[in-house]
Amino acid sequence: MPLYHPSEEFVSQANVSGMDAYRALYERARDDPEGFWAELAEEHLDWFKKWDRVLDSSQAPFYKWFVGGRTNMTHNCLDRHCKTWRKNKAAIIWEGEPGDQRMLTYRELARLVERFANVLKNRGYKAGDRAIIYMPMIPELPVAMLACARLGITHSVVFGGFSAEALKTRILDLDAGAVITADGGWRRGKIVPLKPAVDEALADCPGVRNVVVYKRAGNEVELVAGRDHWWHDLNAGADDSCPAEELDSEHPLYVLYTSGTTGKPKGIVHATGGYQLQVSMAMRWVFDIKEEDTYWCAADIGWVTGHSYIVYGPLLAGATTVMYEGAPDFPGPDRFWRIVDKYKVNVFYTSPTAVRAFIRSGVEHPEKHDLSSLRLLGSVGEPINPSAWEWYYNVIGGGRCPIVDTWWQTETGSIMISPLPGATPLKPGSGAFPLPGVAADVVDGDGASVAPGSEGYLVVRKPWPSMFRTLWGDPDRFRQTYWSQIPGVYLVGDAARKDKDGYIWVLGRVDDVMNVSGHRLSTAELESSLVRHPSVAEAAVVGIPDELTGQAVAAFVTPKQGVEAGDDLAAELRGWVAKEIGKFARPKQIRFSDALPKTRSGKIMRRLLREIVTTQKVSGDITTLEDLSVIDRLAAGQSED
Ligand code: WTA
Repeated sequence: MPLYHPSEEFVSQANVSGMDAYRALYERARDDPEGFWAELAEEHLDWFKKWDRVLDSSQAPFYKWFVGGRTNMTHNCLDRHCKTWRKNKAAIIWEGEPGDQRMLTYRELARLVERFANVLKNRGYKAGDRAIIYMPMIPELPVAMLACARLGITHSVVFGGFSAEALKTRILDLDAGAVITADGGWRRGKIVPLKPAVDEALADCPGVRNVVVYKRAGNEVELVAGRDHWWHDLNAGADDSCPAEELDSEHPLYVLYTSGTTGKPKGIVHATGGYQLQVSMAMRWVFDIKEEDTYWCAADIGWVTGHSYIVYGPLLAGATTVMYEGAPDFPGPDRFWRIVDKYKVNVFYTSPTAVRAFIRSGVEHPEKHDLSSLRLLGSVGEPINPSAWEWYYNVIGGGRCPIVDTWWQTETGSIMISPLPGATPLKPGSGAFPLPGVAADVVDGDGASVAPGSEGYLVVRKPWPSMFRTLWGDPDRFRQTYWSQIPGVYLVGDAARKDKDGYIWVLGRVDDVMNVSGHRLSTAELESSLVRHPSVAEAAVVGIPDELTGQAVAAFVTPKQGVEAGDDLAAELRGWVAKEIGKFARPKQIRFSDALPKTRSGKIMRRLLREIVTTQKVSGDITTLEDLSVIDRLAAGQSED
């Protein structure tokens, strides 16, 4: 396999220059992790009060970082920069899908954040409260997040593609007192309304006292008197200055829900102090961020990638972050390259699914634009197949830009495994090595490191500053899911392999979680949604390989007695899943059957289902199967989306 080395030019300007520099950092962190992180926390962040202890492990796995320290995320993202020349530097360059643009300097962003913080304060919200943010990709989304962070209101951003039902579950789980939303946003030339979903969700959420609605798309919305307010009306009566609360380092900054192996999404809780440190360091080490860079992470802020690497990371670094509202293929498949060219983007971060879609639409689209400003590319969300990597490297990067294939999770908060662009020789498809301070390893079921070349479970052996602190309202599940199966280490949920050179290859999930276009979906969540439909008796869901989205959803459905199975029912079930979870979760394949393959103890044999959808037959061991004839019947009768 060829190794791709960074050019001398790249190495000489890099924040971490050469493998020896990486090794020195890594070893320093390994030998004295607390001293290492403490030094960086002093150098790169402001604290209102310094911590008494770097790490408290006494309640492990409920670790605490920078104990006794006081800080505020928005002080470090905004106030700190506004005291320097950066006050007039572009913080956010935003482009709406219809082509409208806004540029916010650090000072202007700070002003909007402080003003909106006052709006929340005037409505009686304070540190410790929870607010839901359900917005399109417009600058007011980070403004709302930062305004919450300024006051210590724990925010939870719900991806705009989620349904009213998913929104309601999250509002209730958090017992949120406020919802911040918009009339709608733009996607593929159409308005996607958001406010109606909020209205539907709130019919069952009496705890929400205020809904603030930003007017973005101009679609008709209903405002409930006393509860709903236009953003601009409340803003008009608020003051421009609002001091940052001096919060405890462990104060919960946000909760972000992600799929687990049961039907109930998990509320991943992130704290303030450690999180801000580690995302800052990733900006420096992985994205090699420079004062003059234009940086673009083309994710959605509804997912963790957008939290850490569109909003918090770049602003902590004092960088210029690009934000785009709409679809990558609107009005044409070259929209992203048009944006890169227009703003002269230097660092570009996207997902393998997006890269595969670009490959499919053809090289003529990137070739129409000048992409020579790019100097570094990134990938996140799923393993990138080597052929997509090569295309990305050659066609988009012009053979001159290192690719950082960054492995991390909602739970880890920050990038954990990645090449450092000015140091690591790249192997397409591998995330290479753990970052300094990250004790990642590949182990067997007992926690022993596996031999080079063997597969095992990816784990992290030591706590890290940006780690999630618990699951909201469910500390037992936190302990059980992540810390108990292999005692003493953090169990990631991915399979991986370390090759003879120590490069880590992440192979995919080992649990019943699928990864569709880089979005995590649990089989249990989908199954429980399908069986709630009045025509469905039983359902089982498996992930199948998909050329474009990495994995796709295949559903096996047993209809109730007397219900006719066919394309109509399949279409109805797709609509049902879209309404219950979100459009992105719709099953690609639906197969109807009068029974599902089960073991004698009643467990659905997903392995068989997976085999049927990929090879149309079953070759493995079926001796534990209860009713063998079910297999033949299953292979028939599918409906493709
Ligand atoms: C997968 C997204 C291979 C992995 C930041 C992980 C990856 C899950 C990579 C987390 C990568 C993410 N290579 N697999 N570079 N990045 N994954 O929580 O299975 O949405 O456990 O966080 O995505 O997804 P999440």
